[in-house]
Amino acid sequence: GTTAALIPAAGNGTRLGLGHKAFVEVGGLSLLARSVAALAPHVDEVLVALPDGTELPPGLDARAIGGGETRQESVRRLLRATVADTVLIHDAARPFLSADIIYALLEAVAETGAATVALPMADSLVNAEESDMWGAAVSREGIWAVQTPQGFRRELLLRAHAQAAADGYAATDDAGLVARQGLVVRLVRGDARLFKVTTPGDLALAQGLAQMWDA
Ligand code: CTP
Ligand code: MG
Repeated sequence: GTTAALIPAAGNGTRLGLGHKAFVEVGGLSLLARSVAALAPHVDEVLVALPDGTELPPGLDARAIGGGETRQESVRRLLRATVADTVLIHDAARPFLSADIIYALLEAVAETGAATVALPMADSLVNAEESDMWGAAVSREGIWAVQTPQGFRRELLLRAHAQAAADGYAATDDAGLVARQGLVVRLVRGDARLFKVTTPGDLALAQGLAQMWDA
């Protein structure tokens, strides 16, 4: 079967505060260019959702479409723009994606039809009370933080998105929509380096990591 990488990159980057986040550079390459380059060798095509009126910079091995108001809508448009049997959804904002993780994810998707990269929590967890007071502690036993890429048989993810849209249900990732259908989603162990560049502190980490990554 065929495989497409779908990259939502149509967000505003509000929390980072440097304009369109996918085009922000670390170590001389944009977050988007790094994500495309990581995935392109392993798939038949790469599709990127960009803000309307934005063009793909030259040199990227990908095709661009217009994104939506939310990440969920951007992914839905990407899903409609491909006929691939299998899709790998990956945030442009997670630039440090290794081939080993892509192989592990593809293997899991081939077995179960749905899988996501995720990372067991290392920090203790607590519920905040009155916004910044220590409340009830939460056990981190069995708690994983969800990352991307996430892989699915395309038909299955299309159905999950259609159901979510019909119900007005919003989720921050695609595996959540599939799990909501009662389907099995395999967890593939990710990597701390797959963190999402969200805040200025994350960008500082990414700039440091880029030097090691590219060496
Ligand atoms: N995304 C998208 N379409 C949207 C919103 C987000 O394609 N309407 C993409 C972003 O470009 C990013 C990924 O989804 O690659 C994860 O989103 P996030 O980290 O929240 O990025 P932004 O929405 O751009 O950032 P912020 O929430 O701080 O504005
Ligand atoms: Mg966002």
